[in-house]
Amino acid sequence: MITRRRLLMGGAATAAVSAAGVAMPWGFGSISSHARIIGAAPLAIPPLLKGNLKNGVRTFDLTLKQGQSTFLPGYTTSTLGINGPYLGPTLHFTNGEKVRLNVKNTIGETTTIHWHGLHVPAIADGGPHQVIGHGETWSPSFTVKQQAGLFWYHPHLLHKTGLHAYLGMAGGIRVENAETDALPLPKTYGVDDLPVVLQDKRFNSDGSLQYGNSMHDLMMGMKGDVLLVNGGVAPIFKATTAKLRLRLLNGSNARTYNLGFKDNRSFDIIAGDGSLLPAPVKAGRAVIAPGERVEIVVDVKSAEPAELVTYPYESVGAMGRGMGRGMMGRGMMGRMMGMMGDDGRRFEVLRIEPGEKLAPSPRVPDELLTLPALNARDAVRTRRFELDMGMGPMMMMGRSGFTINGKTMDMSRIDARVKLGTTEIWEIANLSPMMHPFHIHDIQFRILDRNGRPPAPYESGLKDTVQVNSGEVVRVIAKFEDYADPKWPYMFHCHILEHEDAGMMGQFTVEA
Ligand code: C2O
Ligand code: CU
Ligand code: CU
Repeated sequence: MITRRRLLMGGAATAAVSAAGVAMPWGFGSISSHARIIGAAPLAIPPLLKGNLKNGVRTFDLTLKQGQSTFLPGYTTSTLGINGPYLGPTLHFTNGEKVRLNVKNTIGETTTIHWHGLHVPAIADGGPHQVIGHGETWSPSFTVKQQAGLFWYHPHLLHKTGLHAYLGMAGGIRVENAETDALPLPKTYGVDDLPVVLQDKRFNSDGSLQYGNSMHDLMMGMKGDVLLVNGGVAPIFKATTAKLRLRLLNGSNARTYNLGFKDNRSFDIIAGDGSLLPAPVKAGRAVIAPGERVEIVVDVKSAEPAELVTYPYESVGAMGRGMGRGMMGRGMMGRMMGMMGDDGRRFEVLRIEPGEKLAPSPRVPDELLTLPALNARDAVRTRRFELDMGMGPMMMMGRSGFTINGKTMDMSRIDARVKLGTTEIWEIANLSPMMHPFHIHDIQFRILDRNGRPPAPYESGLKDTVQVNSGEVVRVIAKFEDYADPKWPYMFHCHILEHEDAGMMGQFTVEA
């Protein structure tokens, strides 16, 4: 039962909702009271933008703008969006096609837009060097060179990525290609193939978005107590087909989700970040960290609704829990460490209600994509990247504790120079007490091993972001092809955006 006392204890967002009067929940017991008292709207499907063909170039117009959105009944929230008040359209690209993106910035301050997961020239990448001032239009163009999959775009301004993304600027990019077009997978956008963008938010009592400036928000990353799914709370989708493909994108600043259905039904994981998997993987849970994508196909042909929810996930390793206990009672540092660990919040994500009559869906094929065999001997060198949170006086004094190989991000420093056309192994070691999702621009890599053990089947496709758990060493392998530029670098960083903004980022060039 939700009591007034519990609502008020739950924080500003719930107080706001309870004061405003509430809609009926579709909810069920024991998860966040917020989602129980709002929601029940249909799943919003962002418009699919196919661009206009001009002289053989597919051109997309994107305007970054300020907007007003309603997430909590009775409250308006100031947001940022692309071609709309919140989030942006889904861009439809075809492999091999030349595209141009006209990105007009009208948000009132400088930002950037990065094409996460796309293999593009560094100058077109939209990282911290490709700034777009207010009133300016940035128009990168490139040829799409990707496997079919879900990619995305979001801001990437140094020290501002977290805030700008949190306020709502993000969208999906669907890349299609001829090989995957031939596979019998659900692929009708908004019908049996759904974009599902997950972002958690926190609200002030006036309905405005709260962006953390507490030490805890900085250290653990900004986590919210309301989950937005394509900008709505606990939405409903009425299925018209026997199976649905959900293209899940974790667009949250810091929260990792352990997703599953309430009735524990199994589903097929068919794709990770940058490609289909070699074969579908039957699973009951999918863990998705900030920046990552997971595609699943689920059977909804049952009288019962399919309720996608989050299950507990623990980002802090044994090292962090030990430190927390050891440091307790030792002043501010002790309190910080004591607060480490998951807040245990659970969310309703999406309720799928099967219609009366469902159109049949094809069976998921046993084989999806052939990828070349992995061979560590293809690599000309191994580079090591040590992630650390500098749990000491440095950390307590400000934004200097988040490091890669002991250094915080410096726009004027190139951390690695890769030779064009070579294959490298990047060995990412997490020396800190919590998991970091490590992202590399330019390439799609494959995971060689985790602490010497081969990766799980669901992470055996192409990836651009990888969860590196506390105390783990993850080795990834990739070839750096096509684009060389000694001047403009690509980024690598933790995709917990507060960690990135605090300096857990570095730069590499690809040089001829
Ligand atoms: Cu999704 Cu460097 O970013
Ligand atoms: Cu990226
Ligand atoms: Cu991190």
